[in-house]
Amino acid sequence: MVDLWHHGDREVGDGLVDLAVNVRVSAPPDWLLARLTDSLSTVAAYPDVEGARSAVAARHGRQASDVLPTAGGAEAFTLLARAWPTRSPVVVHPQFTEPEAALLAAGHDVTRVVLDAANGYRLDPRLVPEEADLVVVGNPTNPTSVLHPATAIRELVRPGRLVVVDEAFLDAVPGEPESLAAERIRGIAVVRSLTKTWGIAGLRAGYVLAEPDVADRLAAVQPPWSVSTPAAVAMAACSEQHAVDEAAALARAAEADRLRLVDGLRGLGVEVAGEPRAPFVLVRVPEGEKIRLALRAAGYAVRRADTFPGLGPDWLRIAVRSEMDGFLAELKTLL
Ligand SMILES: Cc1ncc(COP(=O)(O)O)c(C=O)c1O
Repeated sequence: MVDLWHHGDREVGDGLVDLAVNVRVSAPPDWLLARLTDSLSTVAAYPDVEGARSAVAARHGRQASDVLPTAGGAEAFTLLARAWPTRSPVVVHPQFTEPEAALLAAGHDVTRVVLDAANGYRLDPRLVPEEADLVVVGNPTNPTSVLHPATAIRELVRPGRLVVVDEAFLDAVPGEPESLAAERIRGIAVVRSLTKTWGIAGLRAGYVLAEPDVADRLAAVQPPWSVSTPAAVAMAACSEQHAVDEAAALARAAEADRLRLVDGLRGLGVEVAGEPRAPFVLVRVPEGEKIRLALRAAGYAVRRADTFPGLGPDWLRIAVRSEMDGFLAELKTLL
């Protein structure tokens, strides 16, 4: 039985080097921290997310009515599970487990479509059953790091079906290729997160981009004032052009770091899944669980991946950091 409720944050601590959690930076940049600090002087008032909504809309070239600010990308999945009148939800795995966990918590039966390692975990739209009326797919996908072509995702659209694209990591891919965020497409909703790139996982900031009637349905089940004032301030700030440019520079740096890591891993003979495009990589090592525990003993927390449907104990997910030489040297001694 896969533990859908397990997340990487449970694997860090005890002075370990954190290669388990995909938050890229250890603290928000100073300019963001200053905006957040300023926002605390206004927390006597109830939050107002309209500024965040219009800033996010402008950043993606959408209408404000297409945007629903949420308490992190994760809240969007709970809202969907509660609001969407689905009878045949499908989750494309391996992927972030929260969408399925939220659907189960809302009482739905979920069908899993499990992509194939032999095919590099690439999306094959033909695998999704015709009767699916809600399909959740990650792009790029956590934990496989695979970026699916936007055309493959568009092929999933059907009358009466909502395709939910979790783009939580797309701002970490240089140029945001294959994104469906910038266009209102009937039957597609995009989920975004600001927590990873900006080091604000504790703040909970994300949003949904969808047709206005979809955004309204989700809003109807959202708890009042779910998005706090500092989170709304972060959304507006991170949507400004300088922030988008900074995210792009961080994405380029992450890509260079990832290429080095993948080279290093392959140089050790480690199997790296698919063609990674996000700031984390999925690897398969024989006796992976033993290696993971040995890495922990040596001071490195990598994320177990056996809690992702379709994977097993030999799979490990490694977050990309700028300094990975020590980790690679340690791994070499264990293989
Ligand atoms: C693929 C993916 N989507 C969404 C989320 C949720 O992000 P948040 O709720 O912090 O915005 C996560 C968090 O780990 C994730 O890995």
